[in-house]
Amino acid sequence: MSDKKFELTDLSSGKKSLLPVHTGSIGPDVIDVAAINKDHGVFTFDPGFGVTAATESKITYIDGDAGVLLHRGYPIEQLAENSSFMEVAYLLLNGDLPKAPELQTFTDSISRHTMINESLLRFFNGFHHNAHPMAMVSAVVASMSAFYHDSMDINNPRHREIFAHRIIAKLPTIAAAAHKHSLGQPFIYPRNDLGYCANMLNMFYAVPCEDYVVSPVAAEALDLLFILHADHEQNASTSTVRLAGSTGTNPYAAISAGVAALWGPAHGGANEAVLAMLEQIGTVDNIPKYLAMAKDKSSHFRLMGFGHRVYKNFDPRAKIIRAACHKVLASLGHTDNPLFELALRLEEIALQDEYFIQRKLYPNVDFYSGVIYSALGIPRSMFTVMFAIARTVGWVAHWQEMIADPAMRIGRPRQLYTGAAKRDYVGVAQR
Ligand code: ACO
Repeated sequence: MSDKKFELTDLSSGKKSLLPVHTGSIGPDVIDVAAINKDHGVFTFDPGFGVTAATESKITYIDGDAGVLLHRGYPIEQLAENSSFMEVAYLLLNGDLPKAPELQTFTDSISRHTMINESLLRFFNGFHHNAHPMAMVSAVVASMSAFYHDSMDINNPRHREIFAHRIIAKLPTIAAAAHKHSLGQPFIYPRNDLGYCANMLNMFYAVPCEDYVVSPVAAEALDLLFILHADHEQNASTSTVRLAGSTGTNPYAAISAGVAALWGPAHGGANEAVLAMLEQIGTVDNIPKYLAMAKDKSSHFRLMGFGHRVYKNFDPRAKIIRAACHKVLASLGHTDNPLFELALRLEEIALQDEYFIQRKLYPNVDFYSGVIYSALGIPRSMFTVMFAIARTVGWVAHWQEMIADPAMRIGRPRQLYTGAAKRDYVGVAQR
């Protein structure tokens, strides 16, 4: 807590109050408005939470104007270059980079929790073959709350840890089961001799009738994408997990709420929507037509994968993915990828356009991720599921941080009511 104070004056009554100002380690100060209802009888109004800090957190820091993203203080560029998804998961959950034995113990624990209860597997038979995988994944994750009762005391730190390892380990298995169900292929059990991403690819692509060897290039590319999607402070899905979790609900139910929130095209669903958009645009010649639509306020069309609530400069993750696209496509032998070429041209043209310059709209993490997922053979409908696998780490880290905080309270926003004032009931015959 700093000594800074913010003076608030009600100009109609002249009443003043001094509001405490909290200072973080970096980033803007926040004004503690808790007293304004008591002092002035008013609430604050901030639809979309554009300037409201809903919590204190030590996990991730973003400077949207400078294009900076830090996890536990480490720049995303350094983590992407040097780290692994398992190491970043440990970092986000525990606060510091692991020593070698700590990383080994953590990775072993995740590997040993990859199987799901056989009854959960049978849930997939209840879905039509063309069910969207996000619908299946959110339903099956919610259903996990009906299992695993042995470690469900959220006030017990060891139980919370077991939950964290279970959900991180089982999400790829659930995703692969959803994928195999839509293909009508038999489920492939996890293999604990493979790394996190290699195991996921094996469950996706192996079939019982022949050997399948996971491409190390593909596993490495996926690992990078997972690092880049692992956490992003108080985004819509993470805030959803926190809000649901603040009621003390079963943590699998809270994560399922996060999966549902992620699905929307304004959030994680954008990666799927970008590929659909690129296919719709088709050729470079059509770019001006679609840009005009994106700028036209009477059209619902937006340039998917562009713009961000927080980044008003390049999304640092998009820069890393764009560079990785070149490398991954070359390694996989996709030297001529028309969708990537189109995406590059679209970015170039949009970034010279006054509409996008004025509004500071830049490509976000989802603009290029679909190009890599496609090159790895992952179907478009699975893109947001990939995002959910990675973001589960962030959701769990935030849920853990919140539950462990003795000051935790149920999340309960207020409102500006603009409906009818009190009126008396009138019987149906008199209306
Ligand atoms: N295409 C065209 N115009 C856009 C776009 C876009 N992609 N994004 C924002 N704008 C315009 C808005 O119309 C608005 O214009 P106006 O000032 O003339 O009214 C202005 O830019 C500000 O946009 P808002 O919608 O107010 O910004 P907000 O912070 O509420 O929304 C969001 C951010 C949802 C990401 C938005 O930019 C968007 O819809 N982008 C496309 C979807 C997308 O890529 N989502 C993924 C985000 S990253 C993630 O969740 C992983």
